[in-house]
Amino acid sequence: GTLTNCGLDTSPGQTAELLRSGAPLPEAFKVPLPIPPVKKPIRTAAGVDYYRVVQRQADLEILPGLKTPVLGYDGLLPGPTFDVRSGRTTVIEQVNQLAVPTVVHLHGGHTPASSDGWPLDLLMPNGEHHEHAGHHNMPGGDVKTGSRTYTYPNTQRAATLWYHDHRMDYTAPQVYRGLFGLHLIRDAEEDALQLPGGDREIPLVIADRAFAADGSFLYPALKDGPGVEPEYMEGVIGDVILVNGAPWPVLEVDTALYRFRILNASNARRYELALSNGPATFVQIGSDGGLLGAPIEHQTLVIAPAERFDVVLDFSQYQPGTELTLLNKLDGGRAGQVMRFKVTRKVTDDSFVPEKLSSYAPLPEPGGLVHRTWRFRRGDANGHEGWTINGKPFDPEVMQAQVKLDQYEVWSFATDVHHPVHVHLAPFQVLRRGGSKPGPYDAGWKDTVDVRPAEVVDVLIKFSSHKGKYLIHCHNLEHEDMAMMAGFETI
Ligand code: C2O
Ligand code: CU
Repeated sequence: GTLTNCGLDTSPGQTAELLRSGAPLPEAFKVPLPIPPVKKPIRTAAGVDYYRVVQRQADLEILPGLKTPVLGYDGLLPGPTFDVRSGRTTVIEQVNQLAVPTVVHLHGGHTPASSDGWPLDLLMPNGEHHEHAGHHNMPGGDVKTGSRTYTYPNTQRAATLWYHDHRMDYTAPQVYRGLFGLHLIRDAEEDALQLPGGDREIPLVIADRAFAADGSFLYPALKDGPGVEPEYMEGVIGDVILVNGAPWPVLEVDTALYRFRILNASNARRYELALSNGPATFVQIGSDGGLLGAPIEHQTLVIAPAERFDVVLDFSQYQPGTELTLLNKLDGGRAGQVMRFKVTRKVTDDSFVPEKLSSYAPLPEPGGLVHRTWRFRRGDANGHEGWTINGKPFDPEVMQAQVKLDQYEVWSFATDVHHPVHVHLAPFQVLRRGGSKPGPYDAGWKDTVDVRPAEVVDVLIKFSSHKGKYLIHCHNLEHEDMAMMAGFETI
């Protein structure tokens, strides 16, 4: 059937502008949920695993019978999943066979600055015919051609990280076209638990898109340079919900516990996830930065772009034959549905969620800390129309702060409209939201926090290693490309 799109444009949960597909859209819950393949190392040495990824264009059948050209890590959407051990170094040679420059960032990684994906540290394509690196002459980047090696020490606890493109001014269209994937870190603390694993530990990478009539992605880029058409500067949201690259997929499940690592990889769309057969409960076991101290139960899960929620769902309470739809309560119509679970097989299962998950604990807030405020607003005093931080559009030459290593600081994020705020290099704990206690989705180590309109969120943050230039930015990717990003330096 085709999409009947009634009244989707004005959704209370979204501030961005909806892009409608011209392609016929499939019936929901027919395509099986794909699982991104786990990447195999090409070589392994003491403490180090070496990988090679080719960034290339591929035509994928995302909508039945149509071809969608994507920009993919290994030609996939999402890219392959890295599944690595804490403390073992991952060295990835990225080869650019695309027609555009790229930059790879490991989101949530405690990464040396040279591998963090500074937006001007471009990897230029090797091919003869490629686009200009951008039409301004960008200063200050470490530019490589053909291939580039990124080194991730993974000296951090088990967590659900992801990697994605971070090219200056072009992150939004390049991630939209497919440059994103998962990077999971595991450790002994997590292994000691009897959480659901194997086929019952499943990533759910949620991303919305819109498709042109020929099956290609629709994206309202400006014709002659960076940025989106002005009416989309609030952010681009599409009318198709993909999970692991498939539209409204279905997953057959056993009567058992399942662990889902949920990533919102959308450019600008938020979701409030719920199950149709309430009162089903999401048992949250982890956040951006790994396991919580103890599980938290939610009836619905609000997830902003770039956030991760590690949750356990219990299907043992349902009879085989039961169907549960994962809904998005922030929208009606097709965008109000995400995927379906079909309970098929009765099994016995000895996995469980313990009362104590990890040694994580909220930190006290000592007095006398350095306090910085980051204001996320639209426009600046010079008539700049885009998005700014502390009144400044991103300038790679300007470091807005010098931050000493090994000292806790309190950072306040203050907004005009809704912004998911992300800090590179170090995770943080939310101290306060709107002057009172943290919200229901703020638990654990976070690297992205959804700051609502005209709100202030205070976090406790400490950078404990790596000196260099890093970023703080809005993870609404259209806001980011329209300059809502700032450099800071760890010293
Ligand atoms: Cu996920 Cu600087 O980004
Ligand atoms: Cu924003």
